[in-house]
Amino acid sequence: PSPGWTTRADVVIVGSGIAGLTAALRLRGRVEKILVVTKDVLNAGSTQWAQGGIAAALGPGDTPEEHEVDTLVAGAGACDRDAVRVLVNEGPEAVHELIALGTNFDHTADGELSLTREGGHHRDRIAHAGGDATGAEIQRALIAAIEAAPDIEVIPHALAVDLLLGPGDVAADGTPGPSAVAGLTLHVIGEGERDGVGAVHCRAVVLASGGLGQVFTQTTNPLVSTGDGMALALRAGATLRDLEFVQFHPTVMYLGPDSRGQQPLISEAVRGEGAFLVDDDGNRIMQGVHELGDLAPRDVVAKAIMKRMLETGRPHMWLDARHLGAEFWERRFPTILATARSYGIDPVTQLIPVAPACHYASGGVRTDLHGRTDLAGLYATGEVACSGVHGANRLASNSLLEGLVFSRRIAEVLPAELGRWREPGPDRRTAGLVAGDVRRELQETMSSRVGVLRSAPGLAEAAAVLDKLASHSAETVDQASWEATNLLTISAALADAAALREETRGSHWREDFPERDDADWAGHFDVTMDDGVT
Ligand code: SIN
Repeated sequence: PSPGWTTRADVVIVGSGIAGLTAALRLRGRVEKILVVTKDVLNAGSTQWAQGGIAAALGPGDTPEEHEVDTLVAGAGACDRDAVRVLVNEGPEAVHELIALGTNFDHTADGELSLTREGGHHRDRIAHAGGDATGAEIQRALIAAIEAAPDIEVIPHALAVDLLLGPGDVAADGTPGPSAVAGLTLHVIGEGERDGVGAVHCRAVVLASGGLGQVFTQTTNPLVSTGDGMALALRAGATLRDLEFVQFHPTVMYLGPDSRGQQPLISEAVRGEGAFLVDDDGNRIMQGVHELGDLAPRDVVAKAIMKRMLETGRPHMWLDARHLGAEFWERRFPTILATARSYGIDPVTQLIPVAPACHYASGGVRTDLHGRTDLAGLYATGEVACSGVHGANRLASNSLLEGLVFSRRIAEVLPAELGRWREPGPDRRTAGLVAGDVRRELQETMSSRVGVLRSAPGLAEAAAVLDKLASHSAETVDQASWEATNLLTISAALADAAALREETRGSHWREDFPERDDADWAGHFDVTMDDGVT
């Protein structure tokens, strides 16, 4: 539909988690008009829910080089080494900047930053806040800084629909350059003039819109994580990478077979403080599986749990953290304790039922070391992006860090690269919207066929179901139908990439190709609108 209203900003930032708000604050004073748009309210995204913390080589004796090695090992041979170096080298300074902004991290009795350990780390290097409410504290500090910056405009309840492209720059020899970002259409649930579909005329867009967890039935992601930024970038001609590498967190509280949507996370930090996984008979699951035991990288733990679930026919395993004791639980993990108790489980006296659930998209919109995508004027940062730091399996607590570090980098280069105002051309959308009610069948198909365990027949079945769902046209244009369309776009690309990757690597687990294939590594799979997955 054509926009009912228009506005202007030099740079539009899509998303308001750590990546989006860091970009906005760092661009402040460097470009004139900054607009942040967010699909719900400022703290509705994944940052708010992060528990464990933020990883950086901050502790005595730790080094960025050791953080790099742990990141590369977890990434299962698929990380971009240069991107990882940027992440680990710039990480400590970026965390100190968060502290200077007012984030209250936890400290030891001696006044040092309190650091914990999570899966895949060989050192204590995870800074945390409020015990297990790290994301909420970071989000609070960032929102306070945004609220103290009245020159940064925020439009809440604004779903980013599609990029508008304008004519590229003409080279000295008269050759026209590729199209560049000229604007963005939004669907706003607002008031007065700014209600419904509108457009922002702009010179650059920074995508910081988070992940795609709602593609699956059970996820730790909030409801807003519907892959909007990835789908929008794909439609506009940008390249997505590594979509098949979706991470399943090993210890998500199991609420029963019928539970849907966002599920409660039991942070890896609980294992970092000594909890361990057991089966129904009390046997330790991780014993003998990996040198790091219960703190093995996430994909290893998730697979070990799934394996035991399949062997025993049980829908979940157990986390035993009773020995941590009431006082420790209350001080160190108050959020998890309260959540578990609200579901009738007391971790101080009872085992916690846990099973893997979708947690994080390691892939996304392909970027370079400064968040540039291959579309002029489009940048991406945080979970929506694929900067190359996560490879096939993100290392615990590297996600908040990625958003922080790469948003700072975008802010370094974007002002000097800001293009001219361009006349927006028509959008590239070729197909209409699908009905919002395809969501449930889509999620069930993705979970059963493209989830933790994948195989060629299942992936082919998933592709057929997704194809069928594409013909369910929406009768009304609303957020539910935009989201369902985005979920479908991303699910189809993800299932295609998963079918092409005939090996087991990191979080991509093929039952029919159970080994990692280093001899014949297929490289990364890129997805574009025109060429599909290659
Ligand atoms: C957790 O606290 O276990 C999650 C940390 C992360 O996803 O990096």
